[in-house]
Amino acid sequence: MSSEPPAPNERPTLLIVDDEEGPRQSLNVLFKGTYNILLADSGPAALAAAEGRKIDVAVLDIRMDGMTGTELLGKLKARDPLLEVIMLTAYETMDTAKEAIRGGACDYLTKPFEISVVRDAIGNAVARRRLADRLSGSSLRLIELQHELNDISLREELARTQNEIYESVMHDIGSPLTAISVLIQILNQDLASTRGAADPKRVHTQLQKVDQQVGRCIALSRRYLDYARQRASGQNEVMVNQSLRDVYELVAANPAARGNTVEITPMQVDLKAAINGTDLIQILINLVVNALQSTPQPHHVKLSADYLVSPLTEDELGGGSDEVVIGGDRFINEAPLVVVHVEDDGDGMSPEIMAKIFAPYFSTKAPGKGTGLGLVIVARLLGNAHGLLRVNSAVGTGTRFSLYIPVVLS
Ligand SMILES: Nc1ncnc2c1ncn2[C@@H]1O[C@H](COP(=O)(O)OP(=O)(O)OP(=O)(O)O)[C@@H](O)[C@H]1O
Ligand SMILES: [Mg+2]
Repeated sequence: MSSEPPAPNERPTLLIVDDEEGPRQSLNVLFKGTYNILLADSGPAALAAAEGRKIDVAVLDIRMDGMTGTELLGKLKARDPLLEVIMLTAYETMDTAKEAIRGGACDYLTKPFEISVVRDAIGNAVARRRLADRLSGSSLRLIELQHELNDISLREELARTQNEIYESVMHDIGSPLTAISVLIQILNQDLASTRGAADPKRVHTQLQKVDQQVGRCIALSRRYLDYARQRASGQNEVMVNQSLRDVYELVAANPAARGNTVEITPMQVDLKAAINGTDLIQILINLVVNALQSTPQPHHVKLSADYLVSPLTEDELGGGSDEVVIGGDRFINEAPLVVVHVEDDGDGMSPEIMAKIFAPYFSTKAPGKGTGLGLVIVARLLGNAHGLLRVNSAVGTGTRFSLYIPVVLS
């Protein structure tokens, strides 16, 4: 095995602080071939020398005039918690050394010191520092990886809900298409059975029905294309009432709607909200589907919108004990504001559950039933539009989600 000393730029850095020249210089002579050495004769001089540099191990005299070694230890540790510190003590009692250990020192040496003991103590401290550096590097990489994974899942989930909108549109187009096909079959049978002498009135009525169903298909596809175009063009405004109606139609096809009632109350004065139309639909579908899934019992879900002529008060922004408010830091609290409520009379949530619902992957649904990303998406999309989300809930009574979104004045 080679025992070449490491190149100076790879060497660990040792900070030696002692107000006595003798021990300072003897440590310098002992270690300058192995480590990069910084020497200081006081606490303030040591802090100045350490400024902007990475120190691996510090050797600090405990008793120094002005700033003591223990005080200096605290300051150095505050800058770099992984710093390895060895205290030097001459006549101090064990208590002072123990205090230093409690303050984060890893070892202490008594003066006058034996060379082999000092060499071992510093060698061990350097090894511990290296290990700590490697561990903290790995844990940082793990955190980064976790964030990356979260982002990927979020993107997949966004794509999934967009796909759900698409599937619902396809589903809705499916029913008029089936109707059209049945109507055409009836028409064909009529024409065949009467050998060209079909009743023109009856044919006309059938054709009118076909026309109606074709119109429905076209309207649905056009609306979906409009949303797709809006997203592509980054258009950030949408008429609120049309969105409510679209959500209503889209969730009606969702299996969660079966057995439950959904009611919409549009705005009395239809306003434009400053949010991308697809984003608003995605937010509302997530909230309405959650509301539909809030209890297995048949229940009622209300989707309503209104506007506020004054900004929210401090109290309303803060969130009371039985509510959670999300997005306050980016919210533009300027009137008029659109407020959209999604309410249910389902099982409701306890304050403990409410505190967790915006955490990624939190779900109380059966395994495989919920990803726990729905509300993360809601919070992110609403945050992009500088909106605010308030949740009120009580066990046994139900839940209300309220969105506040700035209005586009035209
Ligand atoms: N209206 C509601 N009533 C009761 N609990 C709710 C309601 N909305 C949300 N929750 C709670 O918040 C949790 C998180 O909701 P979120 O939409 O983020 O995920 P999920 O619905 O469980 O899964 P996913 O949305 O991926 O299907 C739910 O599992 C549920 O416990
Ligand atoms: Mg959900």
